[in-house]
Amino acid sequence: MPAPVSQPVVAPLTRAAIFLVLTINPGSKAETAVKSLCADLSALRRTVGFRDLNGQLSCVTGIGSDAWDRLFPGPRPGELHTFREISGVHHAVSTPGDLLFHIRATRPDMCFEMASLIMERLRPFTSVIDEVHGFKYFDDRDLIGFVDGTENPENAAAAEAAFIGDEDPAFTGGSYVITQKYLHDVGSWNKIPVETQEKIIGRKKLSNVELDDAAKPDYAHNALNVVTRDGKQIDIVRDNMPFGETGKGEFGTYFIGYARSVSTTEEMLNNMFVGKPAGNYDRLLDFSRAVSGTLFFVPTVGFLDDVQA
Ligand code: HEM
Repeated sequence: MPAPVSQPVVAPLTRAAIFLVLTINPGSKAETAVKSLCADLSALRRTVGFRDLNGQLSCVTGIGSDAWDRLFPGPRPGELHTFREISGVHHAVSTPGDLLFHIRATRPDMCFEMASLIMERLRPFTSVIDEVHGFKYFDDRDLIGFVDGTENPENAAAAEAAFIGDEDPAFTGGSYVITQKYLHDVGSWNKIPVETQEKIIGRKKLSNVELDDAAKPDYAHNALNVVTRDGKQIDIVRDNMPFGETGKGEFGTYFIGYARSVSTTEEMLNNMFVGKPAGNYDRLLDFSRAVSGTLFFVPTVGFLDDVQA
């Protein structure tokens, strides 16, 4: 049997992205509309993507826990549940979401066109919970000024981090994705010394060089986000995007993390919000507030193509 084809979770870095989170309206008509779109997504992606092959258009579709039960009566992915809120030193909220479309391309117009075609099909049957248009900011920096994404695993290591293997044979090649929309208090952040910011992130701001162990506090973002099992570091695949609206004074990071086991991302979140040990939390959260939190399963391409409406 050929190996299942995963969705383009490990896509090349792009300049633009749209994150679309929807809930499915009550009723079987809405469920049928979503199922029929699932089977057509590959074709829609080709329709838009072929207009500029250099645009590297990709679309990853995620299904939330409640939606999974409504749409697919068969087996369910072993670790699929709704996003669990965390009340620690800071609060990670859990917000609604049945469907996620993570659309990436080198050109914002291609993302926009793909999102438009999806919404043309789903608008009467869904409610939009959130739509974020992300952009790359200078040297892949986030809006707090640090280069974001450096330690992401690459190539085979990225696939190993993101895709389910033999541990859940019915869903091999799938992935779990957590998203959180963060709003930064940029004014307060920019008032603290750069050296303090660097200790919070664990890297030099200008050069992006990692602080050495002697200089890196145990509350640094890149210290708290190291998860190990049996002495081995377990990675996730991130593709954070800045977004914002200057008129509103809104400066944000849309966090998106794909993982083979959602427990890895959950452990990172716990380390950040509760602290490791408890109380030794991520100081980035003193300046960045999570205003959404969702968890989805990302089935294989073959699963989506075969969905019967
Ligand atoms: C306000 C939201 C966030 C911002 C601005 C942010 C920013 C950054 C930056 C600048 C780095 C260092 C460069 C890099 O390796 O990418 C980093 C590393 C990392 N972040 Fe975040 N991050 C955010 C939220 C999160 C969340 C919610 C998680 C996990 C649930 C996470 C997981 C990680 C991981 C795993 C690393 C790499 C650690 C390492 O091995 O060095 N981040 N982040």
